[in-house]
Amino acid sequence: MKILVVGGGGREHAIIRALKQSPACTEIWCAPGNGGIGYDARCKDIKATDVEAMVAFAKAEQFDYVVVAQDDPLALGMVDALAAVGIPAFGPNKAAARIEASKVFAKDLMKKYGIPTAGYETFDDPARALEYIRAQGKWPVVIKADGLALGKGVLICEDEAQAEDGLKEIMLDKKFGASGNHVVVEEFLTGPEVSVLSFTDGKVVKPMVSSMDHKRANDNDTGLNTGGMGTVAPNPYYTPEVARRCMDEIFLPTIRAMQAEGCPFQGCLYFGLMITPDGPKVIEYNCRFGDPEAQVVLPLLESDLLTVMTACTGGALADTEVKFRDGAAACVILASGGYPVHYEKGKEITGLTDGQLPGAEDVTVYHAGTAVQDGRLVTAGGRVLGVTATADTLPAALEKAYAAADKIHFDKLHRRSDIGARALKALAAGK
Ligand code: AMP
Ligand code: GLY
Repeated sequence: MKILVVGGGGREHAIIRALKQSPACTEIWCAPGNGGIGYDARCKDIKATDVEAMVAFAKAEQFDYVVVAQDDPLALGMVDALAAVGIPAFGPNKAAARIEASKVFAKDLMKKYGIPTAGYETFDDPARALEYIRAQGKWPVVIKADGLALGKGVLICEDEAQAEDGLKEIMLDKKFGASGNHVVVEEFLTGPEVSVLSFTDGKVVKPMVSSMDHKRANDNDTGLNTGGMGTVAPNPYYTPEVARRCMDEIFLPTIRAMQAEGCPFQGCLYFGLMITPDGPKVIEYNCRFGDPEAQVVLPLLESDLLTVMTACTGGALADTEVKFRDGAAACVILASGGYPVHYEKGKEITGLTDGQLPGAEDVTVYHAGTAVQDGRLVTAGGRVLGVTATADTLPAALEKAYAAADKIHFDKLHRRSDIGARALKALAAGK
């Protein structure tokens, strides 16, 4: 099969490395990809959001299968457009992608079908929203822009002044564009967060190994929210008991709800969960693999990724095994200093040969934002590399990942030094 992966970050690199292990994968491309992905796939410089150009390219190059890995092309209907020209693709169609693309849609779905989530109201008028927040008088309160906002459309407001500013930013100043035409105002929940990515063909859902993201830029969960500074899998808070409850109360009801709404979800459905004192609740859905969750989940996948993906597309997941190996994985993100705000690009990266660390066993370097300039590998984004290690235990995986990360250098490199620390504490407390 000749395969095209749409996107250009560490997640796409992880998907490509996993797909390449399939005997059925004979040729693999990535659009737009990036410099480091170029060591593993042919890259074609088409914007992931340029649906028309992507579909024309896929048709002209006669791809057998396309994996749409990024949220915005899914929300724009790239899978529908590919289907219209007869090319099967992994990922939800436009109607199903609303589960991520519209928080109002997602929240109303959960309310209608009794899926546990934070209590909320939706508003299209900032004055009404503020009135409601005042009347509730409960702090902090969470305000979310309805649409996609690069993970930055969520505000946790400690008081009325912050809520007023936040509503103004989202709804009047339109900091996130049309995404801020509506907002969700919701109750603040507490508890550890767990990411569960799942494969689904619209009828059957098969969860992957659980993981834990580290969203803040700096150690001890301080600094700004980022796309994710590191991940570990499995997540120790996702006990067998929690997993059972999630399957019965959240995963299956969500799949059935999407079916009942006439938009069955096919692809990777990501459940962002909080394990609250009242049980697991949905914080958010994503309509795709998480980044950098994919960089720890896929290295633990024992089953053939291409087989599982095509089973999702073809409605045959019930008969397809999805197996993960025992053990653990850890991913440490190497970012450009200043990310997620201002950072420089074009810094030479040293320590890698053809994008990987020579001699580092059980270690893979995923390229999130790199370019090759005059034969040199340079930084080209906020998140630059994800260094993943697998091992029998989480402590061993973390040690290997950090030892590997120590061998990679570029000017103004920033990374967290405490990826996995919370998970290790939870493991120690569980003993
Ligand atoms: P989201 O973009 O929806 O994943 O939100 C970003 C982060 O904000 C989440 O990972 C949580 O840490 C936090 N968050 C979102 N919603 C809530 C909530 N209702 N209560 C507490 N924290 C929340
Ligand atoms: N790492 C969180 C996300 O992919 O949305």
